[in-house]
Amino acid sequence: MTHPAIEALLKEERVFPPPDSFRRQANVREESVYEEAAKDRLKFWEKFAAELHWFKPWKQTLDWNLPHAKWFVGGRTNLSFNCLDRHLIRGRGDKKAILWEGEPGDQRSLTYAELHREVARFANALRSLGIRRGDRVTLYMPMVPELAVAMLSCARIGAAHSVVFGGFSAEALRDRINDSQSKLVVTADGGWRRGSVIPLKANVDEALSGAPTVEGVIVFKRMDGKVPMKGGRDLWWEEALKGQGDSSPAEELESEEMLYLLYTSGTTGKPKGIVHTTGGYMVGCYATTKWIFDLKEEDCFWCSADIGWVTGHSYVVYGPLLNGATTLMYEGAPDHPEGDRFWKIIEKYRVSVFYTAPTAIRAFMKWGDQLPKGRDLSSLRLLGSVGEPINPEAWIWYHEIIGGGRCPIVDTWWQTETGHILISPLPGITTLKPGSATRPFPGIEAEVVNDQGELSESGYLVIRSPWPGMLRGIYGDPKRYQEIYWSRIPGVYFTGDGCKRDRDGYFWLLGRVDDVLKVSGHRLSTMEIESALVDHPGVAEAAAIGKHHEIKENAIVAFVTLKSGVAGSPQMEAELKEHVAKKIGAIARPDHILFAAELPKTRSGKIMRRLLRDIAEGRVLGDTTTLADATIVQSLKEKYEDKEG
Ligand code: PRX
Repeated sequence: MTHPAIEALLKEERVFPPPDSFRRQANVREESVYEEAAKDRLKFWEKFAAELHWFKPWKQTLDWNLPHAKWFVGGRTNLSFNCLDRHLIRGRGDKKAILWEGEPGDQRSLTYAELHREVARFANALRSLGIRRGDRVTLYMPMVPELAVAMLSCARIGAAHSVVFGGFSAEALRDRINDSQSKLVVTADGGWRRGSVIPLKANVDEALSGAPTVEGVIVFKRMDGKVPMKGGRDLWWEEALKGQGDSSPAEELESEEMLYLLYTSGTTGKPKGIVHTTGGYMVGCYATTKWIFDLKEEDCFWCSADIGWVTGHSYVVYGPLLNGATTLMYEGAPDHPEGDRFWKIIEKYRVSVFYTAPTAIRAFMKWGDQLPKGRDLSSLRLLGSVGEPINPEAWIWYHEIIGGGRCPIVDTWWQTETGHILISPLPGITTLKPGSATRPFPGIEAEVVNDQGELSESGYLVIRSPWPGMLRGIYGDPKRYQEIYWSRIPGVYFTGDGCKRDRDGYFWLLGRVDDVLKVSGHRLSTMEIESALVDHPGVAEAAAIGKHHEIKENAIVAFVTLKSGVAGSPQMEAELKEHVAKKIGAIARPDHILFAAELPKTRSGKIMRRLLRDIAEGRVLGDTTTLADATIVQSLKEKYEDKEG
């Protein structure tokens, strides 16, 4: 790893113990929680599970048959019941569940009683459309409360939701619908993003031209409703709700029944449908939200992630609602209409716990201190970071300028696959080091190992034993599940992340060691981008890599060999960028494309991406002795330097 940001990370020496005022009020104050959990991990999780509602108690806490885990076996429960009914029963129906602000500035809020009612009615609508326990429903929605309503309604009736981020293209949506064999799609006539309307319904129409399993589409009216509706297939949200009663029994689901599928990028061209189930995921989200975000009755919690990603699933919807907290949702972009939109929201809603991504923090830094300084951020008491390593400079800025020097920062490491946070400070006890996610959550056995699986100061991050929210598989592909996560180092979960431990045992995450890229916090695979490029009729071969980028973490650079007779013109470059955006979504549009007569390959024909990265980042070329033809890479380097300066 030679990124300047990572070098800075490894030289970081500053420490920040929790302020006394924070420590005194924290949910967790005793260091002994770590030893207690280590002594009996199952008991640790059972205690949290017992705080939740079970229609039928579990018989066995964990059934572990590597790589298959079952948690709370024999227990019956329901996430929607635990997020809603449980609070109503305890007389907390008037508490605000969701505060929402649309990008144009419109506002809504729902109490727990109101949210319960909406969910019951929508769950009844789903049932009357023939959606049953075990079915899959794709949700392709803007960030509106109805997205949370739809998720909780699916959970209520035992149908698995598959949320597809609104930034994905029609083709990407179609692939995900088909892989999950969804019966129903829930969407909207549009959603706001930086002042423009995302044409969600039009994308659904295009996707459904090749999605035979879908029988119906429910459309939420966010805009003016001027979208074509297909008779016999499409139904407005309001129409679907008409006549639906506001009571709807929650299915008593087996702990291991599927709660949701969420597609994420791996190291091949095909996204993986990560499977999460009910009981364990529920307990993991509940526990980590309670302890890491230190939630209290009066808190206003804002996780700025889109619900289209796992962070939104676990920490916009399920974690906060399981805890009976108030969760804030914002529909749009952080710089609309101006770069202080987030700070205005914090000021307006008196947000007390704020959770965002390093890529956003670095953009805020660039937009200037005057924006946050012009707003009252005194309601904040705790900050969080997720999605990528946070460079110490951004950490210090976040701490000083946003947190006023008084708020601890929880740098939380986890993945779509892990379901909930696995490595993070506990804000009332952990001494923070900027750039380090610090220590595994109690009950989590994380380690750093070398290629042979031996403990090592730096190497791969692995998890040694199962945890409640872990993925249960890749939808429809058990073999791939075993291979990707449990075979690289036999017997342990392979995260795909590089990591280093310091003398205090702190974990310093160093980014991916595989072909997964983070671009502005979005997870993409280089193979997916390459498949999209070679899908273009003019392209013979392509290699995509990530180049270090100050704000986005990675910029996408694609090296492309065109078919003979096709010219590498600026028009072709624009066309290829557009092609990738159409195949995957605008998030995957390459930043740079370089046409190459040939790509550097080993004698066995493998493209040497490492050398392409050296070229893109302007480094001296690494070892070229294994190349079939070393002149290719040298001429490519000269060409790149000529073009990009
Ligand atoms: O590389 C790690 C990075 O994000 C990857 C997981 O991405 P995704 O499944 O999209 O989930 C993101 C939100 C949980 C990890 O393999 N990552 C996530 N959090 C951190 C991180 N890297 C360093 N520090 C973190 N706090």
